[in-house]
Amino acid sequence: MKNNPVVPYILIFALGLGLIFFMSLYGLDQKKEIAATDEEGNTEETEGGSAAAEDFDPEAFVQGQCISCHGGDLTGAFGPSLVGLTDSEETVHDIIKNGQGGMPAFGDKLADEQIDELTEYLFTLK
Ligand code: HEC
Repeated sequence: MKNNPVVPYILIFALGLGLIFFMSLYGLDQKKEIAATDEEGNTEETEGGSAAAEDFDPEAFVQGQCISCHGGDLTGAFGPSLVGLTDSEETVHDIIKNGQGGMPAFGDKLADEQIDELTEYLFTLK
């Protein structure tokens, strides 16, 4: 077999097979790592979500729940302007909580403290 010209090809073939095998193992390892990162990422996202629920953001809530009726800049559309409110904070709190006319009640979606934050936020609008 010493001078058989096919030997180098067989060697390269074997080497190639070994390399493919090694790379697929390496790939499986990487896949596990990627899967692990994904799981961590999801956990972080869920944590972030619940943190956001505790850390109530009145501005974000208004952007999501109020502008459809009160207008993109809250100066009024279907509902009246929320900029420069002249009612007392108590009245505004009650309207948000219990609704009034075409204004839906948010008392079942928001805790009283959140409505307070929301009310305070509305009074900062100019
Ligand atoms: C479905 C439409 C609609 C949505 C959504 C809505 N509102 Fe209203 N809102 C109204 C209407 C209509 C009125 C006028 C009610 C009335 O006096 O008859 C009103 C009135 C109000 C008032 C009283 C304003 C005043 O000058 O007396 C406040 C405060 C208010 N809305 C806040 C909010 C907030 C904060 C949100 C989001 C959390 C919101 N509204 C979402 C329709 C809506």
